[in-house]
Amino acid sequence: MANTILIGAQWGDEGKGKIIDVLTEEADIVVRTQGGNNAGHTVFIGAQKYVLHLIPSGILRPRKKCVIANGVVIDPIALVEEIDGLKKLGVKAANNLFISETAHVVLPYHRDIDAQREVRKGQQKIGTTKRGIGPAYADKMARTGLRMIDLIAPDRFEALLRDRLKENNEVLKALGAKPLSFKSVHASYRAAGDRLRPYVTNTVVMLNEAIRRGQNLLFEGAQGTFLDIDHGTYPFVTSSNTTAGGACTGSGVPPHRMDRVVGVMKAYTTRVGEGPLPTESQDIADMLHAMGREFGATTGRPRRCGWFDAVATRHACMVNGVDDLAITNIDGLDTVQTIRVCIAYRVGGATYDHVPNNAQLLAQCQPVYADFPGWLTPTGKATTWKALPSRTRQYLKALAELSGAQLLIASVGPARDQTIVVRK
Ligand code: GDP
Ligand code: IMO
Ligand code: MG
Repeated sequence: MANTILIGAQWGDEGKGKIIDVLTEEADIVVRTQGGNNAGHTVFIGAQKYVLHLIPSGILRPRKKCVIANGVVIDPIALVEEIDGLKKLGVKAANNLFISETAHVVLPYHRDIDAQREVRKGQQKIGTTKRGIGPAYADKMARTGLRMIDLIAPDRFEALLRDRLKENNEVLKALGAKPLSFKSVHASYRAAGDRLRPYVTNTVVMLNEAIRRGQNLLFEGAQGTFLDIDHGTYPFVTSSNTTAGGACTGSGVPPHRMDRVVGVMKAYTTRVGEGPLPTESQDIADMLHAMGREFGATTGRPRRCGWFDAVATRHACMVNGVDDLAITNIDGLDTVQTIRVCIAYRVGGATYDHVPNNAQLLAQCQPVYADFPGWLTPTGKATTWKALPSRTRQYLKALAELSGAQLLIASVGPARDQTIVVRK
């Protein structure tokens, strides 16, 4: 399968977990390279639902190795809970899981500062997951972060935590929040550090040696292109590079070792949290929510929904260098009479065929739509391209053409067998 980077081509929750699970069959190692437990990747195996937050979705296939690489920010307590939760469901995360020594640690003050900043922003809030992701990455860049290598070294961890807590308690007080007790943070983080120590290793060396041995790596992106800190709808973004380049810096695997990029996108658009969403439609949101769909996998918040935005996905294919597309949730449109696709934006007299960098301007953009006749037939049982209604095929072909990449996978339901591989 070669080394594959998989990214979300919209605003997150494109169905990356499901597609990773399918592609993992052909991979040896699955690698998370950015984000933290703000992510929620859903995989169904039979009737059993799994939601992965920090651990790569590849963990659900026995004999595959999984790596949480240097670019991820790790809440160690959440990670221990995730390992234990999987164990209860019969999934082993033991000697098949590897954690980077240099991944940064999310601490309780990161979560508290995240929450306080949101409160202070009021109407201007980002709508974060309140997992402390932004403040943790800010500390990494300010060179005031703690890394996994520090967490598992008891003396160093104690000294560093004491020092950081002093400063961050002042910040918390200034923001109107309660300072944290060293004793309780230290005790809980020491316990988590002890649990995670056996997993912590030099994943950069491990991954590059695996490549030299000819193993296939699959890089599991989190969030989506328009939540990227550089290329998203700033400031309504997350704090990491969610685009393809993040897989290199976040793992220590060089760009010329990467063989292809798969972009995952829904057959419509969703976004959770604040920020512009040009094709947003309350009617589509009401329809999908009434079907019990489109509630956040991490926070349970109802996702905002809209028509497919080809201006956005074309931009995403450009920024990520997408070769192959996986289009998911096609069945969500089974009952729609006329399906709209945004092919350009209009503001005043100007027309845009790319996503403007100014979030305020993007918020004013009016979509220019092309209409497609709906197929009005359930697609969930189709297992081949030919078994899809011809109107569905026409719609998917148009989405691929407008986005500028080739269609690889069409997904018509959450289960493994509801996956049509269009092209080998
Ligand atoms: P991720 O964050 O990109 O992994 O996506 P999430 O798991 O947060 O959200 C995607 C949702 O869509 C999950 O509930 C999946 O089970 C579901 N899903 C994925 N593909 C399909 C599909 O083709 N059809 C349906 N009905 N659900 C899907
Ligand atoms: P997966 O990997 C969808 C959104 C939040 C908020 C913004 C910033 O499941 O696709 P943060 O907590 O990261 O500081 O929040 O980013 N967000 C996601 N939206 N899917 C995700 O992950 C997300 N992770 C963060 O809702 O708007
Ligand atoms: Mg998700």
